[in-house]
Amino acid sequence: MKAALISLGSQSSIMTAEAMSKYFEQVDMVQLKNIEVKLGKEAGIFYEGKRFERYDCVYVKGSFRYANLLCSIASMLEGKIPYMPLPSSTFTTVHNKLLTHLILQQHNIPMPRTYISSTVGSAKELLKEVKYPIVMKFPEGTQGKGVMFADSLSSASSLLDALGVLNQPFIIQEYVDTGGTDIRALVVGDKVVAAMKRKAQKEEKRANIHAGGSGEAVLLNREVSKIALDTAKALKADICGVDILEGPLGPVVIEANVSPGLQGLNKVSTIDVPDEIAKFFYRKTEEIVNAGKKVAVDEVMKGISLENGEDSLSQEVISELKFRGDKIILPEWITKIAKFDDRKEYSIKVKKGRLEVEEFKK
Ligand SMILES: Nc1ncnc2c1ncn2[C@@H]1O[C@H](COP(=O)(O)OP(=O)(O)O)[C@@H](O)[C@H]1O
Ligand SMILES: [Mg+2]
Repeated sequence: MKAALISLGSQSSIMTAEAMSKYFEQVDMVQLKNIEVKLGKEAGIFYEGKRFERYDCVYVKGSFRYANLLCSIASMLEGKIPYMPLPSSTFTTVHNKLLTHLILQQHNIPMPRTYISSTVGSAKELLKEVKYPIVMKFPEGTQGKGVMFADSLSSASSLLDALGVLNQPFIIQEYVDTGGTDIRALVVGDKVVAAMKRKAQKEEKRANIHAGGSGEAVLLNREVSKIALDTAKALKADICGVDILEGPLGPVVIEANVSPGLQGLNKVSTIDVPDEIAKFFYRKTEEIVNAGKKVAVDEVMKGISLENGEDSLSQEVISELKFRGDKIILPEWITKIAKFDDRKEYSIKVKKGRLEVEEFKK
């Protein structure tokens, strides 16, 4: 089976592709920036000018800056590629914290109190009523870069003015006191494969590794684990990093990430994180590809049962051969069509590249 990983080529992507090559026959690393999506006549996905080839599994990832491209690629491949860990809809929701929170709300997943205002004026009214400190975030942003904290109405108000001048959309969020820690849980399929507790540097509230935070492995309790799994499921993501704050009133989700960094997590974890991801992708692809083959065979069988002149039947199916040791194992449907029987005798003619088995008529 053939897989492709479309990404910006980060170290985490390289680690994932290397792990995938242990399972898939071929894994192509495809640079997201060199992909073009064409719609209308001759629609398709083009990589370095050529039509993107057929794959059994395609994992598309990249930062929020490429959300439109990621969504377009996934949308064009949907229904054509047997397995994609992330559907196109995930790219529009996950790369925007507000849209993520709206989906989480629909699924009753706990989150900090979050406010959306259309104007700076109405946000200021809101800021008179909230408890401090307060968090303000860009809906799109990662690595802690779009997250600001305000200790008082006056500092929140000046931040708000700056955001207004820049025309920068924002969300306002309750500050959840965790002593500068957060939890990053990595969900793959329906399992949390690894988790770490991150602690912000001194004088810093953001626990992101990119903001200087340090990580240590953590075993999640049932409640936190369920919240991480529910989040990935709500976002329809088979791979998803979920950021959770364990606040005084219980765990809350602040963010989901479908292009999670693996280096930090892999370093602190006892399991091989990229291998867990690769193994899951392979199993899932195999399951879907085999189910597809079964449907194709069922179609052949249905066609045959509709035909009358059985002697004239000759069905051609292109398939791989299965071997057990040096022996060839043919699938059950071949026995059914051929009506071979272990009480009869057969004439077998074989030469290089060809095999013929025929009922022996004395
Ligand atoms: N509501 C909040 N209360 C307290 N700390 C927060 C809150 N939201 C974010 N943080 C801190 O800021 C960090 C970055 O926030 P997050 O929403 O995950 O954005 P990013 O996409 O930049 O990682 C978190 O890991 C956490 O340490
Ligand atoms: Mg985060």
